[in-house]
Formats: sequence, structure tokens, C-alpha cells
Amino acid sequence: MSKADIGLVGLGTMGAMLALNIADNGYSVAVYNRTTSKTDSFMDQAGELTDRLHPHHSLDALVAGIESPRNIILMVPAGEAVDAQIAQLLPLLDPDDMIIDAGNANFHDTQRRAAEAQAAGRPYLGIGVSGGAEGARFGPSIMGGGQRGDWDRVAPILEAISAKYEGLPCATWMGEGGAGHFVKTVHNGIEYADMQLIAESYGVMRDGLGMTAAACGDVFSGWNEGLLKSYLIEISANVSKATDPLTDLPMLDVILDRAGQKGTGRWTAIESQMVGAPVPVIEAAVAARNLSAARELRLAGAAAFADVKTDRAVDVTPQDLEQALIAGKIMCYAQGFALLSKAGEEYGWSLPMPDIAKVWREGCIIRSAMLNDMATALEEDANRNLVLVPHFRNLIAANLPGLRKTTIAAQSAGLAVPAFSSAIAYFDMLSSARTTANMLQAQRDYFGAHGFERVDRDGDHHGPWLGQHL
Ligand SMILES: NC(=O)c1ccc[n+]([C@@H]2O[C@H](COP(=O)([O-])OP(=O)(O)OC[C@H]3O[C@@H](n4cnc5c(N)ncnc54)[C@H](OP(=O)(O)O)[C@@H]3O)[C@@H](O)[C@H]2O)c1
Repeated sequence: MSKADIGLVGLGTMGAMLALNIADNGYSVAVYNRTTSKTDSFMDQAGELTDRLHPHHSLDALVAGIESPRNIILMVPAGEAVDAQIAQLLPLLDPDDMIIDAGNANFHDTQRRAAEAQAAGRPYLGIGVSGGAEGARFGPSIMGGGQRGDWDRVAPILEAISAKYEGLPCATWMGEGGAGHFVKTVHNGIEYADMQLIAESYGVMRDGLGMTAAACGDVFSGWNEGLLKSYLIEISANVSKATDPLTDLPMLDVILDRAGQKGTGRWTAIESQMVGAPVPVIEAAVAARNLSAARELRLAGAAAFADVKTDRAVDVTPQDLEQALIAGKIMCYAQGFALLSKAGEEYGWSLPMPDIAKVWREGCIIRSAMLNDMATALEEDANRNLVLVPHFRNLIAANLPGLRKTTIAAQSAGLAVPAFSSAIAYFDMLSSARTTANMLQAQRDYFGAHGFERVDRDGDHHGPWLGQHL
């Protein structure tokens, strides 16, 4: 058998689909999985792609079966499994063989692994792959990080397997070290926020307007014809209209309201705090998942406050909700891009801001019509907050009434809308020429002599309270 063009380790959900995708695009792939029976069952389902898939039951055989210089994709769980797999592979590899971590690594780990590889003179890439199993099989969005030359080496394969937007591959080099995994992390943070905003609009329809799941599905379908057109709105319509085969009830009505997470939303929130680029809508979405998971606490709370719960009916229309989602969505994307811009400065990456919006236009979970306009806006000015770009400023101005009305109505009725509330608070802060931070500065100076700036003269100043108590 001739040697394979590329290797892939880890035939789980994503790895198996990625291997099939690579083979589908005409490349031969040597594959290996720790549990060898999984390799065999993978091959049993390879069908007409069998000839381009070369199964191996040992890492030695895998390495021997790849064309040199070798490129080997890892698709194993992020963290220790990646380090363990790298440690097992390194003794078998030549100095110019390249490991490509395609899992959802924490970008700090990728920075470390890339630095170790560079110190040893080895090539290394960390790439973010988005789009779930379907994306991995038929075209994901790929965000690459590492040395530019190392990316160029495998770019033809990665571009071939990626999603295409009007013929353009959704696979781009983002920068050195962990840049690709950082962009993927922020993608996932935005994904959390986008999903939470949609879930809150569903909640207002279900609890505030008394609508059935199917009726909510029809509203989502309608929204998918307009400005909100996106994969997440499309699948929200689909899941709302689905019926449970076990009970014939609406599927949504039998799904427990306890959300899981793998941590990328949390990483986005943590990184935003570290670099001082706030992402409150994303933070609200992460907190909402955590609160949903605290089900026993919520049940106790519902029982304890049953007597003070108000009438949950709200006076909003689906049109108000659509406006709320449009304005909220712009706010959360503006926060995500602002974080990318600030982190780029912090970590020394020249992140290609318009290209980030472009690779998210197809293949990934947050793909949406609006991202094309965001790419255009970022092409004009890569580092301007999106809310200030005339196109989005006008959209916010037009849709803000619905966001404010929905948020106030939901809060009055006791319906939790943390992401909508955060979006409106972010907007109100961003559009305030004078905030209340003068009070914070006075307090800080009073208890800690931290000093403050004045509105009428330069320099560091203290209040008259200094000396009275310190
Ligand atoms: N699922 C998604 O939608 C999605 C989307 C984007 C990114 N990702 C990321 O892609 C990566 C893979 O996810 P997945 O959903 O494909 O996971 P998965 O279905 O759980 O598969 C994990 C694979 O890794 C192997 N593995 C686990 N621990 C290992 C270890 N210590 N050493 C060697 N191999 C090990 C497993 O082999 P065994 O068969 O021997 O257990 C299995 O083949 C993760 O980083 C994930 O976050 C997932």
C-alpha cells in the first residue's frame, strides 16, 4: 500500500467525520484509534472511501504509513489526552514531522505546546474546528494557529475539506501559537450567547405568551427568512417542531432544563476579564447555563417564593422579540470582536479581523447572514466596535425599542432574561457620556487613597477626606 498523505489519531465523533471528509476530497488518510475495535468499526462503515483510508492498530504502524514529512492530526479530548498523545508520538517522529491539534484546546495549552515545539525545532499547529459532526464530515470552519509556513504546508488539505462561502474556503491562518484556538474559543463564547438569547426569546413565548413549542417553531422559521437568518435559528425552529417518539409530546417539553457545557464559554469569559475587554452577554450566557444546572436550588427557590411570583403574562409581540434578538445579537458579536481585537494586542497576534468574520460565514455553528455585513464592516476598520459602524448603529437604533420593551416586560413578569438584560446594560453603558464611575473613584480614594483624575484639570488628585481619617 502506498503511504498516506496525512495521518489522523482519534476516531471519535469528530475524528471519524474529519477522516471521511479528507478522503472524500481525494487525499489518503492513515487512521489510528486507541481502542482498536473502533478503528475496525470505522472501516466497516467507510464504504466507497475505503481505499483512501489506511487503518492502523499501532502508532508505529501509523507513522510508518504516512508520507514524509508527516502531518498528523490529533482529534482527542482537549487537555491531558493531547499531551499524552504528543508524548507517545514524538519518539516515533522525524524532526520535520508535524502534529496538528484539531480539538478544542485551551489556547494557553497551545501556546505552551507551540513554544515547546519551536524550541525543539519541530513544526506544530493548533487548529480550531467548528461545525459539529456534520461540519467535520461535509465542511467545517477552520481557524489555524502556529507558524505561517507550517500552516501553508497543510493549507491545501485544510482548505479543501473546509466549508465554502461563495466558493471561498472557510479556513484561515489566524496567527502564531494559540491564535487559532483563541479565535475558536471566542467563537464558542459567542455561540453560548447567541444560543442563550434565542432560548430567552423562546422562554418569553412559552411562559409569557403561552405559546406551544410548535408555534414557537413557526416564529423561528419566520425569523429565519429575515435579518436573523442563521444556522442556530434554523435548528431552533427544527427542535421546536419535533415530536418525542416515546410520548408524542413536543420534544422540547420532555427535555430537562439542565444545560451542559465543555468550558469554552467559560474560557471566553475568563480571557475577557484577563485582557479587560468585557463580554457581559457571553458571561450572562455562561452563568445561565450554570444556574440551569443548579436544578435543586432552583426547585427550592421556586417553592420558597411561590407566593411572591407575579402573573407571568407579558405584553410583547413576536415582532418585539425579533427586534430584541437582532439588537442583542449585534451586541454580543460586538463584544466578541472587541475581545479578539484586545487579545490580539495583548498576545502579539495580528488577528485578521475581517477574515475571522469570513471563516464564520459557513461551516460553523454561529454561521449567519449577519456575519457577511460584519466582515465588510471590519474590512473598513478592523478595530472599531461594531456598534459604532453606521450599518449596525442604524440596526441597533431601529431594534432597540424591542430589546428594551422585551427586557422590561419579561423582568416585570418574573421571567429570567439575563442575556437580554446584559445586552441592554452594555448598550446603556456604551452610550453614556457620563457614567457613575466618579462615585467609584471617590470611594476608592476615600478608603485607599488611590487618587482620581478631575474633569477640570490634569494630574492625580485626592478628595478633602484624605487626612481626616487616613
Ligand atoms: N463533538 C463536537 O461537536 C465537537 C466540535 C468541535 C470540536 N470538538 C473537539 O474535538 C475533540 C474530539 O471531540 P469528539 O467529540 O470527537 O470526542 P469523542 O467522540 O469523545 O472521541 C474522543 C476520541 O479520542 C480518543 N481518546 C480519548 N482519550 C484519549 C487518550 N487519553 N489518548 C488517546 N486517545 C484518546 C478516544 O479514543 P477511545 O475510542 O480509545 O476512547 C476517541 O477516539 C475535542 O477536543 C472536542 O472538544 C468537538
